[in-house]
Amino acid sequence: MVTEILEGVYWVGVVDWALRHFHGHELSTPRGSTYNSYLIADEKTALVDTVWGPFAEDFLANVRDVVDPAAIDVVVANHAEPDHSGGLPALMRHCPEATVVVSKRGAESIPGHYHEDWNLQVVGTGDTISLGRHELVFVEAPMLHWPDSMFTYVTGKNLLLPNDAFGQHYATDRRFNDEVDEHALFEEALRYYANILTPFSDLVLQKIEEVLALGLPVDMIGPSHGVIWRENPLQIVEKYREWAAQRGERRAVVLYDTMWHATRHMAEAVGAGLAAEGVPFKIFYAPLSDRNAVLTEIFQARALVVGSPTVNRGYISTLGTYMEDLRGLGFKNKVAAAFGSYGWSGEAVKAVEEHLARCKFDVVGPGVRAKWQPTADDLAACEELGRKVARAVAATEEGT
Ligand code: FEO
Repeated sequence: MVTEILEGVYWVGVVDWALRHFHGHELSTPRGSTYNSYLIADEKTALVDTVWGPFAEDFLANVRDVVDPAAIDVVVANHAEPDHSGGLPALMRHCPEATVVVSKRGAESIPGHYHEDWNLQVVGTGDTISLGRHELVFVEAPMLHWPDSMFTYVTGKNLLLPNDAFGQHYATDRRFNDEVDEHALFEEALRYYANILTPFSDLVLQKIEEVLALGLPVDMIGPSHGVIWRENPLQIVEKYREWAAQRGERRAVVLYDTMWHATRHMAEAVGAGLAAEGVPFKIFYAPLSDRNAVLTEIFQARALVVGSPTVNRGYISTLGTYMEDLRGLGFKNKVAAAFGSYGWSGEAVKAVEEHLARCKFDVVGPGVRAKWQPTADDLAACEELGRKVARAVAATEEGT
């Protein structure tokens, strides 16, 4: 279903209602997603980004609703990840002489994915291509989301097409931010930021300042996933500024696994200590929680307390994926602690503490270990650990 988003500018993307996992099974997408493609009809016809390969024919049908694909002169590939470039082979069979516009790193990644002899034009920040009445202006945006990523700006329409930046995995029959549930929209925008863009937060801040310094008026932001920011489009830019600063909120996440409920009882005692000092908390049982939802909660919180029984002289394997995510995502400004039950050797708490310290969490040790089922003293120690974490959270607030 094509939408003319501005006079002569068409959304010709597709909605993937069924998507529940993205990046293989790395990221959960409970609300599906969209792959947004934008067609600009001027003296020349330009298309900015395509869709994931399995949707190429639906995408071509949308393009045909506006123009004959053979009439496309310029195809901009802002980013080579297949959710945006996967429609290129099918499209280029119709317009083999079209110019494919890529960033410098895109000149590696697009041929690397498709091994086709397309007419590539490499652009950098500030380069332009005239379509007639409008120009395309390019801004390199490395690491938002890959080294090859770039933004395309359409003059005269004041339209910024920043690819993955400002996007959301959010399938909807609406195309604009002012037409959808605001809570769901920001929940998905935050989930996207926390799980994908957090490691590049410093670059996000730099890029926002760089784009604003160009002085280009922005009336609309069309990301490559989810809805288009039409009403107050810069609100998502402000949100990115806030998220990139990673200040967090006065709350805590308690994440645990348990074999015989000993560590669960300890988790609840830690929560009691947090609550006693006025820090709201949520407890997540790792094996049955949506990992990306938990990571989003950790992103928003100022404290993480991890509970694990000792298994095979270390922490339990269900926490391993989380530990790897905490390493890779590089969360900042968070305090942490660990606790757990053990039967014989009891290494889990130390292993968790050492890992979190390597991930640059401010570990308020020593953690609490309980042999077998926790005693009343063990649970009191867990509650005191929660209080200690809460006081450390308060100290970070005083420092801000
Ligand atoms: Fe939406 Fe980095 O791809």
